[in-house]
Amino acid sequence: MKNKKLLVAVGLIAAVLVMNFFMEKDQQTTAEKKVAQDIPTVGVLQFVSHPALDTIYQGVQDGLKEKGYDVSKKQVKIAFQNGQADQSKLSTMSQQLIDQKPDVLVGIATPAAQSLANLTTEIPIVLGAVTDPVAAGLVKDNQKPGGNITGVSDQAPLKSQFELAKKILPKAKTVAILHSSVEDNATVQAKSAEQEAKKLGYEVKLYPIPSENEISQTIQSMNGKVDFIYVPTDNTMANAMQTIVEAANNIKVPVIPAVDTMVVDGGLATISIDQYQLGVESGKMAADIIDGKSKPADTPIFVFDNGKMVANKKQLAFFNIELPEEVQKEVTYVDEEDAK
Ligand code: TRP
Repeated sequence: MKNKKLLVAVGLIAAVLVMNFFMEKDQQTTAEKKVAQDIPTVGVLQFVSHPALDTIYQGVQDGLKEKGYDVSKKQVKIAFQNGQADQSKLSTMSQQLIDQKPDVLVGIATPAAQSLANLTTEIPIVLGAVTDPVAAGLVKDNQKPGGNITGVSDQAPLKSQFELAKKILPKAKTVAILHSSVEDNATVQAKSAEQEAKKLGYEVKLYPIPSENEISQTIQSMNGKVDFIYVPTDNTMANAMQTIVEAANNIKVPVIPAVDTMVVDGGLATISIDQYQLGVESGKMAADIIDGKSKPADTPIFVFDNGKMVANKKQLAFFNIELPEEVQKEVTYVDEEDAK
């Protein structure tokens, strides 16, 4: 009888001990989980490195920071991948990012965003500067995206860009539009650029090319046939500005690009959207999604279309162009700004 009581007591103590052990362990794991979960993860896929996209990525980080997600303060974890303009790399990297179960994904440039969108319809995706989200098949409607995707669009102010061309190249009659034939953002913009240029009375020649390798030869073939080259918001071209400018200077034809960073790289002049602000806005949108303040499905695409007038002083001198007074008043010389 005594023994039996003792046995029950020992048994009870053992049971309590065992229970305690498991409960503690359980608490530990929830605590551990909590720490890991407290820091949200943002997965960023950048299509390629060129000055505009690098600036946009900096903006994304600063936009997140403005909303309380500072990487250096361990308030957020950013998993970053750069696809180096390689389609197969983009798919692998997208999968790697998704495997990390991020709270939100950011796709910088159209091909990167498309690659992410192909692999998830659940994780929210913020478009970091996608020219035309509808044409790229990423959203149904800019006002009501409907799915897991929203973000920022950078429609180049085409009309003002060609009006500027009229002012600084008054004798020009024929414009070549040089663009990538594989980037949806570039083909769509080349078409709109063609329309705008025609409205202003230009004769337009389209030069779609499949890769960077064809640039020099294509420009060579323009010799004597065109008065200036227009380059849209095109990643392949932005990445190859040096080649473009070299070939174009050789045949003495100026380049009017869609974006200021391409003017820094040797374009003549343009009216450009602020690349950094595109990134900041994307970063802020990502933060609002993390905070549960917004959902992609009913967050309209933020469309930037205002611009700043910029020119390259060195290229103006090379082509012996003096800017009309009204342009001089407004313009910023980006190559000088850069040298400061
Ligand atoms: N809008 C481009 C896209 O949809 C990306 C981009 C942003 C870009 N800024 C640029 C491309 C400047 C060339 C130059 O892919």
